[in-house]
Amino acid sequence: MILKILKWVGIALGVILVALVAVYGYIAVNMNNRMERTYNFEAEPLRITSDSATLARGRHLVAIKGCQDCHAADLGGKIMNDDAPVGRLVASNLTKGPGGLPGDYNEADWINALRHGIGKDGKPLIFMPSHETTLLSEQDMSALIAYCGQIPAVNRSLPDNELGPVALVMGFMGKMPLLSVEKIDHQKPMVASVDSVEGIELGKYLAVSCSGCHRPDMKGGEPLAPGFPPVPDITSSGHVGKWSARQFITTLTTGKTPEGHVLKNEDMPWKMTAQYTQTELASIYKYLRSI
Ligand code: HEC
Ligand code: HEC
Repeated sequence: MILKILKWVGIALGVILVALVAVYGYIAVNMNNRMERTYNFEAEPLRITSDSATLARGRHLVAIKGCQDCHAADLGGKIMNDDAPVGRLVASNLTKGPGGLPGDYNEADWINALRHGIGKDGKPLIFMPSHETTLLSEQDMSALIAYCGQIPAVNRSLPDNELGPVALVMGFMGKMPLLSVEKIDHQKPMVASVDSVEGIELGKYLAVSCSGCHRPDMKGGEPLAPGFPPVPDITSSGHVGKWSARQFITTLTTGKTPEGHVLKNEDMPWKMTAQYTQTELASIYKYLRSI
């Protein structure tokens, strides 16, 4: 009797294992096909000037959009993650130094990366948040490209991306933003410019950079990855609803909340938010309080 039960348990486990292998195989093939797909978008004219005000704006955008968190402080790129389950995630060397962008990487290539989420070969960029940069105004897009086009060359050769099973499955389930190109509305035109006056409109425009973690409705949710803290609600119904503008700005520039909680930069990138101007932070505060 026991032997018979064991035999059936064995068969059941075997069937489950085969089913899991089949499901994983399907996911891996599906994701690989999507990553190998070639896209082609119509070129868009963008006027790029490199006067000193534009370059200063581009430098500021690099600081507040977190480019350096992934592409390293010198934008020479880095390995963001390298372990067997998740795999190797590599943010490119964005300079023209050895190991960096090819010598003929031009403005159209920059637009393809930042607007559409594809590389020079037309294939999707992996884990590059182009679904956020695509929402930049024309003015900011051109400032960012002008600035990045003249950063000092960095000699750093990096290995290729190599996704592990956890990244593939999470990407497949939409829990990890691997393929921005699929999330972008490519027909949506860029807005020419956004009012730089303090207020809700400017705050909403800037808060796109918070949405990847705090979710598009800013109400937070589950941790971004196992081992990380849950992401808080930062609308008027969360702590922010009880804070003054000053307390909000202090939190985002020092990493300490009025409740005395210390934010770790790896969880909540406050070293990035510390680089926003007072007007920008006050605008984000007004926007968050309005929702
Ligand atoms: C969350 C991390 C992350 C952030 C933030 C980020 N990037 Fe990336 N970026 C990546 C990764 C990873 C790649 C490599 C994609 C690939 O090789 O498929 C990449 C690729 C690129 C590319 C394409 C380069 C190439 O090799 O074709 C450009 C251009 C780029 N990023 C610019 C930027 C700029 C400018 C910013 C800031 C506005 C930025 N990135 C912010 C992760 C990031
Ligand atoms: C990389 C993910 C990430 C990004 C990007 C991000 N946050 Fe956070 N944020 C977090 C996490 C995670 C916490 C919670 C940390 C903790 O509990 O220690 C947090 C905490 C906060 C808090 C404290 C809330 C409280 O109730 O104490 C505020 C305020 C905040 N974030 C605002 C922002 C704003 C504004 C932006 C955009 C400009 C932003 N965050 C961008 C992940 C992020």
